[in-house]
Amino acid sequence: MHEVLYVTSEMYPFSKTGGLGDVMGALPPSICSKGIKTAVITPFYGRMNLDGHKLRLVYSDLHIGYPWPDTTAEIYHTEYEGLSVYFVARGEYFDRRHYYNTHSGDYFDNCERFIFFCKAVVKLARMQPSPPAVIHSHDWQSALVPPYLYFERMKDSFWSQTKSVTTIHNLAFQGRFSERLFHESGLPAEAWSLSGAEFYGDLNMLKASVAYSDAVTTVSPSYAQEILGPEFGCGLEGFLNSQAHKLTGILNGADYSVWDPGNDKFLPCCYGPDRIKGKYECKKSMLREFYMSDQLEDRPVFGFIGRLRDQKGIDLLIDILPRLMEKDVGVIVLGEGDLGYEARLLEYMEEYQGKFCVQIGYTEDLAHGIQAGSDIFLMPSRYEPCGLTQIYALRFGTPPVATAVGGLRDTITPYPAEDATGFTFERPEPELFFDAIMQAVEAWQDRDGWERMIGRAMRKEFTWDRSADEYINLYRKLGARI
Ligand code: ADP
Ligand code: GLC
Repeated sequence: MHEVLYVTSEMYPFSKTGGLGDVMGALPPSICSKGIKTAVITPFYGRMNLDGHKLRLVYSDLHIGYPWPDTTAEIYHTEYEGLSVYFVARGEYFDRRHYYNTHSGDYFDNCERFIFFCKAVVKLARMQPSPPAVIHSHDWQSALVPPYLYFERMKDSFWSQTKSVTTIHNLAFQGRFSERLFHESGLPAEAWSLSGAEFYGDLNMLKASVAYSDAVTTVSPSYAQEILGPEFGCGLEGFLNSQAHKLTGILNGADYSVWDPGNDKFLPCCYGPDRIKGKYECKKSMLREFYMSDQLEDRPVFGFIGRLRDQKGIDLLIDILPRLMEKDVGVIVLGEGDLGYEARLLEYMEEYQGKFCVQIGYTEDLAHGIQAGSDIFLMPSRYEPCGLTQIYALRFGTPPVATAVGGLRDTITPYPAEDATGFTFERPEPELFFDAIMQAVEAWQDRDGWERMIGRAMRKEFTWDRSADEYINLYRKLGARI
């Protein structure tokens, strides 16, 4: 079998709702490029991007036995950047308009859907001639794989050498469901404990994953520290402290084959640190596309791209927007999420025509266009496990204004340091955010200083190559034979 097997509910370019998709589209190929046989298992969604990828049906009725004794899955396979990608298909679970939720909330059967997925992963891996050295699962949707593996290992020597790793991309999503679903999951009764899957009388899938994994990682060193305290621990801090010996933070990278303005199929004009002119062409084209005033061509324009949720601090931007609009600046927002935030932003667009624009929706090409066309990137997150958009913004020469939390703290060197690449503020409060924005506007006015800052930001490297080495070291420290 493969030496490292990744388990994930999304993988770019096939499926993506956010950073998890980006990470899973880049980390496995980086591991693979180091000569390690790598595979990914992910759901086969009805809405996937299969452009140009040939899928082969490898099992038409892999027996899963959940939720009914005779339930089966279809498994498809494709090669992608040297690795094997397996898709677990079952129409009733994954052929839907969205992956996890609609505007009215989470799908009612999310727990069943991902119990099914995790069981399919273990079954599929067990069908292979040899076991993987590492099974590495990501977030709550894949979180039952490590506990299943833990208990299988006790009965089946096939698994004796397989190590498990869990990565937490966002502790706020734990996969918490009723006790009934614990019994359905097939985990043994002993897993229903304070040190196992139980959490205040509920099944907590992410907690189970942490409990039964050989190692646990988060996506930045700062976040690995933060989740041990009450402010960011989402109620799990006590438990996580008991598991702290196996917790590390490994910073995400950026996939510069997708996110590099020097070679970006979505941009009207390419540019780089030594040929910055193209960035101003991208700005002009973005302003036209969003019907913004052309007077903004030589004024600072701010971009925001992200889920319109409390995590991302979009309410802070909404709070200060009227004040910001009194200044000679423009703001563009791309995102979707909370209907209340969407409505407020749309109202502001009416009120501040030509200076403020919001595009509700999820559009990959616009994300690239805004990264390139904005002068300054806004990221007032309340917490940020890593954050990829600010890493992309650095590469696109769009210094971020961000809260000094989690991965934002680990990736931005704040002004006025000599080697500054952006601006940070200490707490997610509107006043502090506004002040940091004003600081950025002032710095922007010193055109030479600004171009030096852009150059520094663009030359920063957050490669997957470095992160992949850290993961490989971790796998080897666990004793995995790779
Ligand atoms: P998170 O995973 O918490 O949403 P990240 O910064 O890690 O945040 O990653 C977000 C990813 O999703 C980036 O690739 C970003 O460009 C993309 N993204 C977020 N919102 C949108 C949107 N509305 N349209 C297009 N891409 C988006
Ligand atoms: C989560 C986090 C984000 C991180 C991403 C990829 O969605 O919210 O901070 O960058 O996962 O790890």
